[in-house]
Amino acid sequence: MEDYQLPVICLLTLLSVCSAQYDVQVLGQSEPILGIVGDDVILPFSLRTTIGTVSAVGESVEWQRPDLKPKEVHFYRSQEDYNEDQNNNFKGRTSLFKEEMKNGNISLKLSGVKLSDAGNYTCFVPTLRGSFQKDSVQLIVGAASKPRVTIVGVDPMGVILECEAGGLIYKPETTWLDSDGNILPGGSTETGTDSDGRHSVRGHVTIQKTDNNMFTCRVQQQQINHKMETEINVTDRMFPEPCQSWLSGFLIGGLIGGLIGGLVLLIVVVVVLCILKSKGLLHWGRGVLNRNPQQNGNPLL
Ligand SMILES: *[C@@H]1O[C@H](CO)[C@@H](O)[C@H](O)[C@H]1NC(C)=O
Ligand SMILES: *[C@@H]1O[C@H](CO)[C@@H](O)[C@H](O)[C@H]1NC(C)=O
Ligand SMILES: *[C@@H]1O[C@H](CO)[C@@H](O)[C@H](O)[C@H]1NC(C)=O
Repeated sequence: MEDYQLPVICLLTLLSVCSAQYDVQVLGQSEPILGIVGDDVILPFSLRTTIGTVSAVGESVEWQRPDLKPKEVHFYRSQEDYNEDQNNNFKGRTSLFKEEMKNGNISLKLSGVKLSDAGNYTCFVPTLRGSFQKDSVQLIVGAASKPRVTIVGVDPMGVILECEAGGLIYKPETTWLDSDGNILPGGSTETGTDSDGRHSVRGHVTIQKTDNNMFTCRVQQQQINHKMETEINVTDRMFPEPCQSWLSGFLIGGLIGGLIGGLVLLIVVVVVLCILKSKGLLHWGRGVLNRNPQQNGNPLL
C-alpha cells in the first residue's frame, strides 16, 4: 500500500458520511392518515435532508396509487400541475400547497374524500438518488354521518333531547352546548360497536328554556381530533309551563295531602272514641238515650 492511500481513503469515507446527511429525500408519515367521507384530507409529504427542508419548486413530483390503473393521482412538473394521465377517480379533487413548495412542502390535498380513496399513496421525485426517491402514506377512510338530534320527550324538568351518530372509527363522546357554547350539565352517553367494528353513540340531556332555545350536540373522536355538530331549535311551547307544573304539583300535592290528612283524622277520631269508652264516659247506642230519664225520674218520684 502506498503511503498516500490511507489518508485519501479516510477523506473519501468522511466525505461520503458527510454527504449522506445532505442527501435529499421524500419523507411521508409512518402513521396512517384518517380521512372522513365528504371531508378534505392532507397526505403529508416533504422534500428534505436530515437537517432541513429543500425547495421543491423546480422538481418533478408524482403522486401515485400503485394498486390502481392508471396509478396517477397527481403530477407536478415545470412548476405546473400536469394531470392528463390522472386516474378519473381523482379528477378535480387533488391540489398542492404551491406557496409552501419552496419550503419543501409536497403534501397533496384530497378533497371530498370517498371510501374508495382508502389505500397507499406514493410520492415520487425521479431526480433523487435510489431509495430517497419515494415514500408512501396510508390513508384510512371512515364513514361518519352527522349526528342526528331529536326531541324524545318532555318531563317536569324540561325537554329531553337525544343525539345519535354511527360509523365512527374511534370511540366517540357527546357533549351538549347552548347557543353561547356553554356545556350543558347532566348529559348521559351510551356507546356501542356495530358488526364492522365501527362505534356508535347515543346521548341524552334534559334542557330548560333559554333565550333562543338553540342547542347543539357535538360528537367528538378525541384520538384524531375530529368533531361533528348538529343543532336543534326547540319551540317555546315544547317546554312545560312554569304555571302548569306549579298547578299540577299543587293538585297532586293536594290529593296526597288530602288522603293522608283524612286517614290521620280517622285514626284520631277512633282513638278518642276508644279512650272515652274505656273511661266509661261513653255508652254506645241505647245506653246514652236511656240514662237521662232514669237519673231524672227516680229521686223525685
Ligand atoms: C403543507 O402545508 C399545508 C398548508 O399550510 C399544511 O397543512 C401541511 O401540514 C404542510 N405539510 C407539511 C409536510 O409541511
Ligand atoms: C398499505 O401499506 C400498509 C403498511 O405499509 C400495508 O399494511 C397495507 O397492506 C397496504 N395497503 C394496501 C391497500 O396496499
Ligand atoms: C335555528 O334558528 C336559528 C336562528 O333563529 C337559525 O339560524 C338556524 O338555522 C336554526 N337551525 C335549525 C336547525 O333549524
